[in-house]
This record gives sequence, C-alpha cells and structure tokens, in this order.
Amino acid sequence: MLLMKDIILDGHPTLRQRAKEVNLPLSKEDLDTLRQMMDLVENSQNDEMVEKYKFRPSVGLAAPQINQSKKMFVMKTADENFKNLHKYAVVNPKIISFSEEKTYLSGGEGCLSVDEEITGLVERSKRIKARVNLVDLETGETTQVILKLNGFPGVVFQHEYDHLLGVLFVDKMKEYLPDIEPIEFGVNA
Ligand code: NI
Repeated sequence: MLLMKDIILDGHPTLRQRAKEVNLPLSKEDLDTLRQMMDLVENSQNDEMVEKYKFRPSVGLAAPQINQSKKMFVMKTADENFKNLHKYAVVNPKIISFSEEKTYLSGGEGCLSVDEEITGLVERSKRIKARVNLVDLETGETTQVILKLNGFPGVVFQHEYDHLLGVLFVDKMKEYLPDIEPIEFGVNA
C-alpha cells in the first residue's frame, strides 16, 4: 500500500523530467502501480484511512510523484455540481485541444508533492479534449478514447498532465487572475 512517505517532493529531480511513454499492452507491473495509485487517492478520501495513515486528501496522483517517470496518472473526483464521478486511470494521454476560455479554482490548487501550506491560483482551460488510453483497473484492459472534460475534472486532468511534462502548479501560480470566471473549489492533486 502506498503511503505519504512514498510521494516525492518538489526538489526531487524526477518531478522535473518529462515522463516516458508506457508500453502497451500494459505490463502487470504498470497495472499494479496504477491500482496502488488509485488506492492511495481513494484512501485519501476516506476519513478513517486519513485518520490512521495521515493521508492528505487528494483527487489525483501522477506516476512521477511516486518516482516513476512514466506517462500515467489516476484521478477520482466528482464534478463541481456533484453530479458525475470522474474516475480514470490514464496511460499515454495527449491533450489535443484546449478551449480559449479559461478558468481557475478559486480555492487554489495544491499538490501532494508540494508543501501543504502552499496553494495557488492557476489559469487552466475551461474545456479540454484528450486522447487517452483508459485502463480498466479490474481487468487491466486498455481502451483508447477521446475524453472531453469540462470545468473541475478538466482542471484536475490538466494538473496531472502537467506532472508528466515535469511541470508543477507552483511554476504557474499567480497572485490573482482578473477577468476569468473561477470554479468555486480548491484541491490537492
Ligand atoms: Ni500534483
């Protein structure tokens, strides 16, 4: 089981590397890693587990954050209206379109790899379209799909995607973002 101590922190060189493509079909090791990463995110959303293991609540985790420089990440979150669940294990994603329209999380972004005192406003596209290989964590089956994400889940996706490029939210954060409509949310990813 992955714990907070398995997450590397800003200053570690792996977080600054461009992650490598993952071989498909997915290896048993990579599937296991994705399962463990999703477990960590789910545990961090479970009050009992948070109490017991001191997880910081989070909605996403990218492989470089556990010191594996591979293009894969997991995310699990509801949208901002709490209507739909967005739970994805993603391999070799490519964002193929970013909307001109921007947004940001009014409560700021945070990251398990960055000191929890630090949160910041980050400009993101309001809508994205990405070509991804979605992994079914039960069967290990991988399906290539075009994912269209809007609002909050799209922001989480862009945060995780940046990890695969060696970019952290602290590189992009601003004091304030005038003239952009925010999403009333803050989160660790
Ligand atoms: Ni992060």
